[in-house]
Amino acid sequence: MKADSRPNYTILEVQELDVNYGGIQALKKINLIIQKGEVVTLIGANGAGKTTTLRAISKVVNSKSGVILYNGHNITRRQTHEVVQLGIAHCPEGRRVLARQTVFDNLLLGAYIRSNQAEIKADIQRQFELFPRLSQRRNQLAGTLSGGEQQMLAIARAVMSKPQLLLLDEPSLGLAPAIVREIFSIIENLRATGVTILLVEQNANLALQIADRGYVLEAGSITLTGVASELISDERVKKAYLG
Ligand SMILES: Nc1ncnc2c1ncn2[C@@H]1O[C@H](COP(=O)(O)OP(=O)(O)OP(=O)(O)O)[C@@H](O)[C@H]1O
Ligand SMILES: [Mg+2]
Repeated sequence: MKADSRPNYTILEVQELDVNYGGIQALKKINLIIQKGEVVTLIGANGAGKTTTLRAISKVVNSKSGVILYNGHNITRRQTHEVVQLGIAHCPEGRRVLARQTVFDNLLLGAYIRSNQAEIKADIQRQFELFPRLSQRRNQLAGTLSGGEQQMLAIARAVMSKPQLLLLDEPSLGLAPAIVREIFSIIENLRATGVTILLVEQNANLALQIADRGYVLEAGSITLTGVASELISDERVKKAYLG
């Protein structure tokens, strides 16, 4: 479904957001809007501020100024666990699974904000159906999984908090093409279940193929935004990000 045919319900609105690391200004007054049910991609070169944007939304880093509205809540000064409670899950760059815990325990930890054990067990089972590779490896230590399997676990773990908005940071990084296709088809499946997705990708071509809309981030500023099908044929995007 295209962005313009969706009901106009804004799930996330970032207004004039500034983030500094010490003296370095990583984000400069960025504005971003996501409608419920959309897949929106954020593309940009190394160091542009993509990860920082996701961290600011999930409150892993604090913003200097600006406002973040989520589902009608002003979450600008909330803490990470509070935004998880409100329905935002962050699948971080580099996967960050708990290496010394099993696949099963990683999934269980993803549900730490939930209390209904029967529902949690049923959802873990659902993840195993979605990710058969994880099912076969449920008792394996996460640190011994392959890169692609760790990425699947990182996504499945994020989904265990039952998010309405999923922040995905570079899910295809370093993975072989066949695994990348598998990961992207999982992202498509998640979208079909109604999860809204903000996708950061180095593979801009692939990201723009599945996204409704995109934003281009350059040195901490949004320089271009539009419908994905238009961005993919934009000369500036082609030249800088599509090789
Ligand atoms: N913890 C930190 N302390 C200081 N500076 C940081 C920190 N994290 C990021 N930065 C700086 O902020 C800027 C944006 O970094 P960020 O990680 O958001 O970029 P990115 O677009 O995700 O890049 P990449 O594609 O390489 O992942 C960079 O200049 C980076 O050096
Ligand atoms: Mg990054």
